[in-house]
Amino acid sequence: MNLVVVGAQWGDEGKGKLIDILSEGVDITVRYQGGNNAGHTVIVGNKEYIFHLVPSAILRPQKICVIGNGVVIDPKALLEEIDGLKKRGLSIGGAQLKISSNAHVVMPYHKVMDQLREGKRSQKIGTTGRGIGPCYSDKVGRMGIRIIDLLNPQVLKAKLADNLNEKNDIFVKVYAFKNYDFSEIYKEYLKFGQRLKPYICDTALFLNQAIKNKKKILFEGAQGTFLDIDFGTYPFVTSSNAITGGVCSGTGVPPTKIGQVVAALKAYTTRVGEGPFPTEFGKEMNECIRSKGHEFGATTGRPRRCGWFDAVIARYAVTINGATQLAIMKLDVLDELEEIEIATAYKYKGKIYKDYSHDLEVLTHAKPVYEKWPGWRTSTREIRHYKKLPLAARRYIERLEKLLEVPVKYISVGSKRDEIIIR
Ligand code: GDP
Ligand code: IMO
Ligand code: MG
Repeated sequence: MNLVVVGAQWGDEGKGKLIDILSEGVDITVRYQGGNNAGHTVIVGNKEYIFHLVPSAILRPQKICVIGNGVVIDPKALLEEIDGLKKRGLSIGGAQLKISSNAHVVMPYHKVMDQLREGKRSQKIGTTGRGIGPCYSDKVGRMGIRIIDLLNPQVLKAKLADNLNEKNDIFVKVYAFKNYDFSEIYKEYLKFGQRLKPYICDTALFLNQAIKNKKKILFEGAQGTFLDIDFGTYPFVTSSNAITGGVCSGTGVPPTKIGQVVAALKAYTTRVGEGPFPTEFGKEMNECIRSKGHEFGATTGRPRRCGWFDAVIARYAVTINGATQLAIMKLDVLDELEEIEIATAYKYKGKIYKDYSHDLEVLTHAKPVYEKWPGWRTSTREIRHYKKLPLAARRYIERLEKLLEVPVKYISVGSKRDEIIIR
């Protein structure tokens, strides 16, 4: 059965590690949204890989990786990523990696616009500065340049001219920034197109044909449910549908062909960038968990904000993603704690909120209602069987399971490939 790995918090749940493990049992792994704002870490032996656009399954030589149409592709970043992986000994040709012809292209002006727009906002989002928002804006605004356009000089010429015609005015008149030179970008992007050509195809047709041929597909979510453009803590979100709903529009695989959904959750919560975070720790505990969990962004290196597990958001995520299984990641980070808390509701102005609220004021000012659970105060990193986990750890996992009403199938107890318990 085809399956999705989706982030059920604010990203960085450990999706990369999980995908690396699950990709062993599938034929094809597909990214369906986001761009190189994502940073997915895979650690095999003593080698660490951080994937931004290339699916995290590329380490498995017999498997095919696909970048779907819902992804926004910075060709320069993608080529650098491919070159970097080749240097590390991986073979990445058109047989291993396929890129959707109708994915949209991140242009140099998107990255600059991302930064200029942030600069003008009083309520900053804390974007990764990778041009993701402006690129998706152009897609929806019907101004976007797609991967296939890079292969057609006439089409690229007309589209780029139209874009620069409008954008140069905005850059100069609104932001007092520079004019972009048409011919420089035009030549550079035609070259990118030629270099990417061996990988480009109609990936929707490819995937549907593979499904007909009984191949198994894993859909790799980027970001997380609360960074989703529709369901996240808007406007402090990314610009794509990170939820499982994004799989269909982002790959052309219909909903009838998706079976399992694994919701990835940390055993606590983190967030990088601005925006509400009801269970965020105070300064001291924030620093403690950040250092135990090495909570620094895989893309930007920014320190991640940390907090207790929030069952209010997790329950919402499980619902809208249709999770069939949970993966609880980074349990080992809690190993030394005496007491662990879980938020089961929020309280704001005397009212109890059992469900996630779309009201930014509630999310920003609500106080979580916590349950306290005893810690296990012993290392779980060597444990590979559920029954061998300390009783308090099992109680914690089973409490999460009860709150979310979905079985926990995977428990991750370290960053390496084999540091996992499969129930
Ligand atoms: P992703 O964006 O969801 O793929 O997650 P990231 O790779 O950005 O962040 C997860 C971080 O946690 C990475 O540094 C992983 O190596 C690490 N990690 C994943 N699972 C575990 C785990 O079970 N325990 C510990 N200690 N680290 C983990
Ligand atoms: P992975 O796939 C965590 C956050 C940014 C910012 C907001 C908008 O590794 O889980 P953007 O550049 O997308 O316009 O930024 O979204 N963000 C992420 N946070 N993990 C990610 O990806 C993220 N991708 C974007 O920090 O708050
Ligand atoms: Mg990440």
